[in-house]
Parts: sequence; structure tokens; C-alpha cells
Amino acid sequence: MTYVAINVLTVPDDGGALLEERFARRKGSVDTAPGFLSFELLRPLSGTTDYLVVTRWRSQADFTAWTESQSFRDGHATATDRPAERPSSATGSSIWSFDVVVESRND
Ligand code: HEM
Repeated sequence: MTYVAINVLTVPDDGGALLEERFARRKGSVDTAPGFLSFELLRPLSGTTDYLVVTRWRSQADFTAWTESQSFRDGHATATDRPAERPSSATGSSIWSFDVVVESRND
């Protein structure tokens, strides 16, 4: 069953552009992770001010394996070991997870 893991990122008021720029320069190492299906960064327009990092996986086990992998560490290298003077692009994060029970796709 397709598994969806969403990282809910709380960004400072003026932090959206920096976060989008970070993701625009992302490593792309996740793209070759076993079981990875897709990734989207969603910019909030209404109803919330949080950004959503939506990832889809062949299974929950594939996602968990990725979060414990060098690929995850590589993909987050700049998000974690940044020099003190460089601001964090997110002030908080939490994870939502779902199983896709019914779907219809056009792509
Ligand atoms: C402490 C929590 C986390 C923070 C603050 C965070 C932040 C970021 C940032 C800023 C980037 C952009 C690249 C960079 O600057 O390094 C990134 C990459 C990414 N994040 Fe996270 N992240 C976190 C955890 C997660 C989790 C749990 C997921 C999965 C739902 C996730 C999914 C991704 C994906 C798919 C990329 C692109 C990686 C690549 O291109 O290889 N992140 N993250």
C-alpha cells in the first residue's frame, strides 16, 4: 500500500523564500532511494502558514529505511550542519503519515 509521509514545516514569517530556495537547491539524493515515488514542497496559500513536504513511498518500510540512510543525511546536510550565522529555514517540524486507501490518478 502506498505510504505518504508529510513533514510539516513551520517557517518564520519572512522565511518562505529561504526555504523554497533551499529546496530548489536540494541534493536530489532521495530520488534514487528504494521505494521512493514522489516529493512535493507545498507553499501555504490559505488555511495554514505551514509548508508541507509531501513524500510518497511504495511502503512505510521504504520510508523508514530512507530516514535511517546516508541519502537522508546527505539530503539534509545543509539543513543540519549549517554555520551559526546562517538562519534555519524552519522553526519547527512534525510528521504526519498516511496510507493511501483509495486513489485515482491522471498522470
Ligand atoms: C527536523 C526535521 C527536518 C527539517 C528541519 C527539514 C528541512 C529540510 C530542508 C531545509 C531541506 C532542503 C535541503 C537542505 O537545505 O538541506 C530538506 C530536504 C528534504 N527533506 Fe527535510 N527536513 C526535516 C525532516 C524531514 C522528514 C521527516 C522528511 C520526510 C517526510 C523530509 C523530507 C525531505 C526531502 C524529500 C528533502 C529533499 C532531499 C533530497 O533532495 O535528497 N525531511 N529538508
